[in-house]
Amino acid sequence: VEIRVGIGLIGCGTVGSSVAEQLLLANAEIEKRTGVRFALRRIAVRSMRAERAAWIPQALLTDDARSVADDPEIDLLVECAGSGLNAADIVERAISRSAHVITANKELIATQGPRLAALAAAYRVTLSYEAAACGAIPIVRVLKDALAGDEVVSIAGVMNGTTTSILHAMEQGTEYAAALAQSQRMGYAESDPANDVEGFDAAHKLALLMQLAFGAPVLSTQIGCAGITGITPTCIARASELGYRLRLIAAAKRSSGGLRAEVHPALIKADHPFARTRGPENVVRVVTRNAGALTFSGKGAGGSATASAVLGDIVGAMKVIGGREVKRNGAHAGGAFASSASIAAYFDDRMRLSDSAEYPVWAEN
Ligand SMILES: NC(=O)c1ccc[n+]([C@@H]2O[C@H](COP(=O)([O-])OP(=O)(O)OC[C@H]3O[C@@H](n4cnc5c(N)ncnc54)[C@H](OP(=O)(O)O)[C@@H]3O)[C@@H](O)[C@H]2O)c1
Repeated sequence: VEIRVGIGLIGCGTVGSSVAEQLLLANAEIEKRTGVRFALRRIAVRSMRAERAAWIPQALLTDDARSVADDPEIDLLVECAGSGLNAADIVERAISRSAHVITANKELIATQGPRLAALAAAYRVTLSYEAAACGAIPIVRVLKDALAGDEVVSIAGVMNGTTTSILHAMEQGTEYAAALAQSQRMGYAESDPANDVEGFDAAHKLALLMQLAFGAPVLSTQIGCAGITGITPTCIARASELGYRLRLIAAAKRSSGGLRAEVHPALIKADHPFARTRGPENVVRVVTRNAGALTFSGKGAGGSATASAVLGDIVGAMKVIGGREVKRNGAHAGGAFASSASIAAYFDDRMRLSDSAEYPVWAEN
């Protein structure tokens, strides 16, 4: 039986245009892999006047995202717009008429993920967001599927490419402002750079990963957060003299007292994988009770790298729609934490160096 899946795309910027390119130009290849026929039916954008790639058919474009979410011909909604629209409204509308949803929007999941996951479960549709945390690194799948039979003890890493780019460029002698502008030009920075440099972007990713790792409805608003704007060339030079580099670390663990989590710049020994990050590379270290320590690294940002994760979710959802796979929603089991549990600061008890005391020293436990 031929199944034809209608796809609606919201957003056609850095990530969305790369997704559209694959869906339009590699259509036959994807159909071969999924065994499901599909069509990209609509693409919602903010401005109908903005210039688009020549291969985007004008007839698919609309500036009415709601009409795409409500379109009965669309079985799978792919949200790649981010902060320019009320993503929760769009996603809820689609789920509430039993459409499957994929989103790259970390803020949406970090602030409303538990509620949206419950809604998706009630309507028996998939809600997938592999691209929302650490771009191309398949860390969501790892936590949701591969480690589902284990117990995650801690999760930590370098999860924001903009701050890494800035700190690395400052290590080479570039000024802060020039380093930020360079990251924006490369398409790694969020549209509002405050999100990156103040640590909010990393906090969103950490909350999303904690939801999966600990089965707890953690929201990013519960996570203490310090950014990199106070880091001066002197701090960087001092760290280097002592054999350390500064990176923005997002870290969480469970202990007998409950959950601890924080986003904070930390001093890391120069030969550690966290310290060796450059540009958009993210590194995530997961420690579990049985598997021990696992480290994942790869491109955390950029159009095609992030689109690769979105496409993986699209293929997965199409297999579910085509009846070739059962839906696998839901977080890691074993979450025995109350929803209102407060989250203690992660770095409180960490060692400080007397001459660089404002930053904790990263230690592996
Ligand atoms: N960039 C990355 O490396 C990366 C990595 C991981 C996750 N993400 C996430 O992916 C999402 C998209 O990021 P991006 O970098 O691709 O953003 P972007 O380049 O700014 O693109 C945003 C797109 O959304 C459209 N849009 C904005 N408001 C809209 C509205 N009200 N209705 C319809 N369309 C609207 C814009 O339309 P116009 O084209 O008309 O302006 C644009 O096409 C965000 O949630 C981001 O956090 C991005």
